[in-house]
Amino acid sequence: MSLNVVILAAGQGKRMHSAKPKVLHPLAGKPLLQHVIDAARALHPARIVVVYGHGGEAVREAVKGDDLVFAKQEPQLGTGHAVMQAVPQLKVAADGTANAALGAATGAADTTLILYGDVPLTAITTLKSLVGAASGGMAILTVALDDPSGYGRMVRENGKITRIVEHRDATEAERAIREINSGIMAVPSAMLAGWLDKLSNKNSQGEYYLTDIVPLALADGVTIESANAPHGWEVLGVNSRAQLAELERIHQRNLAHALLEQGVALADPARIDIRGSLACGQDVSIDVNCVFEGDVVLGNDIVIGPNCVLKNVRIKAGTRIEAFSHLEDAEVGAHCRIGPYARLRPGAQLDEHVHIGNFVEVKKSVIGAGSKANHLAYVGDSEVGKNVNIGAGTITCNYDGVNKFKTIIGDGAFIGSDSTLVAPVTIGAGAYIGAGSTITKAAPAAKLTLTRAKQLTVNAWLPPKKKLT
Ligand code: UD1
Ligand code: CA
Repeated sequence: MSLNVVILAAGQGKRMHSAKPKVLHPLAGKPLLQHVIDAARALHPARIVVVYGHGGEAVREAVKGDDLVFAKQEPQLGTGHAVMQAVPQLKVAADGTANAALGAATGAADTTLILYGDVPLTAITTLKSLVGAASGGMAILTVALDDPSGYGRMVRENGKITRIVEHRDATEAERAIREINSGIMAVPSAMLAGWLDKLSNKNSQGEYYLTDIVPLALADGVTIESANAPHGWEVLGVNSRAQLAELERIHQRNLAHALLEQGVALADPARIDIRGSLACGQDVSIDVNCVFEGDVVLGNDIVIGPNCVLKNVRIKAGTRIEAFSHLEDAEVGAHCRIGPYARLRPGAQLDEHVHIGNFVEVKKSVIGAGSKANHLAYVGDSEVGKNVNIGAGTITCNYDGVNKFKTIIGDGAFIGSDSTLVAPVTIGAGAYIGAGSTITKAAPAAKLTLTRAKQLTVNAWLPPKKKLT
């Protein structure tokens, strides 16, 4: 069975009090709408239609993809009206018949799955079971909530769904129903347009309710099943900053528990944030308050100390990242020791057994195996060989205000503390640079090079005398 997906994302999100369209607010570092699009993609639909309105072009720009089709809804006259805007874009069986089986036989999309752009955490397995439940007609994703207020209620007779009543339109007895409409449903594509045409807006909100297709479907002899979301959070939507923060915590807790299941040691599953993907080898241990962004890959036996930020980083086995280190677009080899308080900036590439210590910044530099920069240094646009020792306070002066230049340091070189290496410059293999030197020309291999004023002691000098008052 092939599938259309319609994502409703035209709502304004007034309660966010933000200039940004609600569906573009990030959850785990990714716009809410992107979560929904990613879930839709996992179902391999024939078409994904995003209904947008508020935020207009910003929404289209933020979630690009060749497989996405956009439909504008302006003004917003309800969920039924929103789906109506998507109808011209749906792939429907060529003869437009209402026969779902025919749709399947012709390969046209016979089911349309309706998702909400502000409901980001529905599990893909749940969506699959919903689509499966719709194979003989239509299906609605429902869940029983302890506090169902605000939601549409599923009204059943003899166990069968007969209609959905909005909270505002519901009687006292109907409000007591705990089974709610998530809003997410799978309907036969060929019949959808006909039902939407028959919707009226004679209700408390003056809107065209998508939920009113239920009695129309029944009248056409279509069976309506419900599929159950295993967890309440799968159908939670975002209307306010508080709800967004709540969903973020739920999502992070889920990610943390998945890591624990895989065998990652987390000092506290409530104090880790993953805003992207985090792949871990065996026996990885992560202390509290670490943030992982983009794609992070950690090999076996890696220890991440507390309060580290890692963004788009690959780390090989046996490396320790000590507290308060910040790594971005960097590669770290095996058995390195980074931090505490280290900063690896984009293009830092460390081979194995490298030590980068406190207040050392490395940018766009390759550092060979066994090299060390243990304290207070800046290494930028450099090629550092193997077993090099970079002393405290060393700075590669890579920038003249306009251009960036390269520093090359050969294997086994020793850079004395507080040296400035003015690029472009080369330090030969095994060279020693005397502490406090400013190196502007090539320093030959295996020789001591230093630039330093001679030390002088003035024997005739006397300290100034304090005046007596
Ligand atoms: C809707 C359902 C309700 C369900 C609830 C679940 C209807 C009539 N009611 O109510 O049964 O329990 O969701 O959260 O369907 N949207 C548009 N265009 C519009 C209106 C809405 O794109 O004109 C989008 C919104 O951006 C949002 C979704 O549709 O993503 C739901 O809209 P919302 O106004 O939150 O619906 P509810 O009134 O909460
Ligand atoms: Ca809502």
